[in-house]
Amino acid sequence: MKILITGGAGFIASHVADAYIEEGHDVFIVDNFSTGRKENVNPKATLIEMDINDNKIPDLLKTERFDILNHHAAQMDVRFSVENPRFDATTNILGSLNLYESAKKYGVKKIIFASTGGAVYGEQDYFPADENHPTRPCSPYGIAKLANEKYLHYYKEVYGMNYTVLRYANVYGPRQNPHGEAGVVAIFIDKMLSGGQPVINGDGKNTRDYVFVSDVVNANLLALRNDVSGIFNIATGIEHDVNYVFKKLKELTGSNCNEVHGELKAGEQRRSVCTYNKFKNEHGWQPETDFDEGMRRTVEYFKKLTSKK
Ligand SMILES: NC(=O)c1ccc[n+]([C@@H]2O[C@H](COP(=O)([O-])OP(=O)(O)OC[C@H]3O[C@@H](n4cnc5c(N)ncnc54)[C@H](O)[C@@H]3O)[C@@H](O)[C@H]2O)c1
Repeated sequence: MKILITGGAGFIASHVADAYIEEGHDVFIVDNFSTGRKENVNPKATLIEMDINDNKIPDLLKTERFDILNHHAAQMDVRFSVENPRFDATTNILGSLNLYESAKKYGVKKIIFASTGGAVYGEQDYFPADENHPTRPCSPYGIAKLANEKYLHYYKEVYGMNYTVLRYANVYGPRQNPHGEAGVVAIFIDKMLSGGQPVINGDGKNTRDYVFVSDVVNANLLALRNDVSGIFNIATGIEHDVNYVFKKLKELTGSNCNEVHGELKAGEQRRSVCTYNKFKNEHGWQPETDFDEGMRRTVEYFKKLTSKK
């Protein structure tokens, strides 16, 4: 199939692009390199350096006639969205609509969208959250992701365009960018390996559900199928607090840094954990890499990267 992947120079979607290419698909990548990196881009993909808000997006979709739009490009920093809700909405809502309108017009059969399990639900009423849990996002980022889900429902109801929404838990693994504000695993490993001091925001008792990137890739492979339609959590059903992640990574990196706590940032949820039963029961997906193994592989990757510098 001919597939357009947005954000394909970034952490998650670059792995998705690799897997799609491996399966023999014709992959195009649109990325503006705001956080993405050239070295992540598969050389077999056709790379188009472009913002998803660019007015040349319709021409691209008109010319190339993609079967699938896999939409991962986003401003993905929750705290940044709290400080800059308009910037967040410009990329995460208006940029998406630029793509969806062109997809509708130029024959895209299906959209796969990277949503979020944590931010869309907000503070949870019960644990783990299933897909029917109330959606009460408490950040502009979460609001924008939920708006995308609603637009996709609209495009399906009114224009018959199929979609799969993948609500990711906290994704971690090789290629995650350690230099932003988001992605605690990559940030901690980078600091620990470079002799720096990671800072745990607040008391470190905030919990997250950590899912390894190769499991997320498997979900994106399944989502190519037309019968995989609707909204699915991509999670492990297990929560760990930041203090535990810190201890685990300290052990794996061999770092002798101290446990330092800083201020809790606005927009951060206390507990977040999701069940993947729906995707498992309907399509057989389940996470295959457990927390210890995933963390070990991620640390290995960053160690190799550090030794090359
Ligand atoms: N990492 C997680 O834990 C997580 C959890 C839930 C959802 N998600 C979603 O998954 C997607 C990928 O996240 P990631 O962690 O790989 O982040 P990332 O920052 O590594 O990837 C995002 C990519 O999008 C590109 N991009 C950003 N704005 C763009 C624009 N306006 N036009 C074109 N390209 C643009 C960036 O350059 C980057 O390559 C995002 O939609 C994010 O919201 C991630």
